[in-house]
Amino acid sequence: MAEKEKIAILGAGLMGHGLAQIFAVNGHEVSITDISDDILKKAVENVRKNLDFLAKNGIGREEDIGPAIGRIKTTTSMKEAVSDAGFVIEAVSEKLDLKQKLFAEAEDYCSSETILATNTSVISITEIAAMCKIKERVVGTHFWNPPYLIPLVEVVPGKETTPYVVDKTYELMKSVGKHPVKVKKDVPGFVGNRLQHALWREAISIVDQGIADAKTVDEVISNSFGIRLPVLGPLETADMVGLDLTLQIHDYILKYIESSPGPAPILKEKVARGELGFKTGRGFQEWDNEKMEASRRKLLEHLIRWNKEHL
Ligand SMILES: NC(=O)c1ccc[n+]([C@@H]2O[C@H](COP(=O)([O-])OP(=O)(O)OC[C@H]3O[C@@H](n4cnc5c(N)ncnc54)[C@H](O)[C@@H]3O)[C@@H](O)[C@H]2O)c1
Repeated sequence: MAEKEKIAILGAGLMGHGLAQIFAVNGHEVSITDISDDILKKAVENVRKNLDFLAKNGIGREEDIGPAIGRIKTTTSMKEAVSDAGFVIEAVSEKLDLKQKLFAEAEDYCSSETILATNTSVISITEIAAMCKIKERVVGTHFWNPPYLIPLVEVVPGKETTPYVVDKTYELMKSVGKHPVKVKKDVPGFVGNRLQHALWREAISIVDQGIADAKTVDEVISNSFGIRLPVLGPLETADMVGLDLTLQIHDYILKYIESSPGPAPILKEKVARGELGFKTGRGFQEWDNEKMEASRRKLLEHLIRWNKEHL
């Protein structure tokens, strides 16, 4: 069997450690780099905790955890991390200049064949590739948190990315059990975050206008079209109900739906007051430790159930 290529992960935070986990579990040698040994040590501890938790919940086997951890090497040296990697994924903070700089630096040390993938949430892939010598090898791989439990990866070409790079990236994602999709054009937010934040903008606007409170807005979604969404997306639903009805509804309703190009005033005010959500105990709702724990547990239990049923 052909040897699996080595993966280098730049940035060992929330997403970076999860990405390292995915590839190590699937038999790839992985090197992760970050700015300090402490962060790297914590990242490997987090991978171990995740794998323990998953095994206890029936996903993966206890005996595979040690070997998977053994495939993860850590280093604060970019050169060491990328020099023999076939595929690099950057998951550093969401700052354009940092991502540009790190890719340009990675190019100094890796082979000209190495693919440089970015896990940016919304930034244009073309802009991230701007300082690279070989822009054709830069591609977006937008994972979702937690990346080992949410299957989707949006594979996004920059203006100069070759079809070969897109195809190879797509196949690699499939080979580690992800559900990749190819996005045709490099636009900020790609597909998933454009859809997600169109919904968040309306949800926030409904609260801002006093139409319903935050809990009610979320309750409406999770007890109505939210139940349908895992099996029927909006476009299949539109076909099912009929495009004539969809047209009539849009003709009447769209003018009333939020279309502001900037963040809602209520969101800016809350952030200015330090109401950041879980981080400070108050956001759109009040949060004490018990409520936050219940919310996190509810999400994890749902994702575990979903993975057991579908994968
Ligand atoms: N958190 C999410 O839900 C999520 C989902 C999808 C995509 N993303 C994207 O993934 C990327 C990482 O997000 P995150 O949530 O893991 O952030 P994070 O803050 O948890 O991790 C970022 C890491 O980058 C490291 N870093 C900063 N400068 C560095 C440098 N010069 N060299 C090496 N490492 C450096 C930081 O030390 C930190 O460990 C961002 O682009 C984000 O938009 C995040």
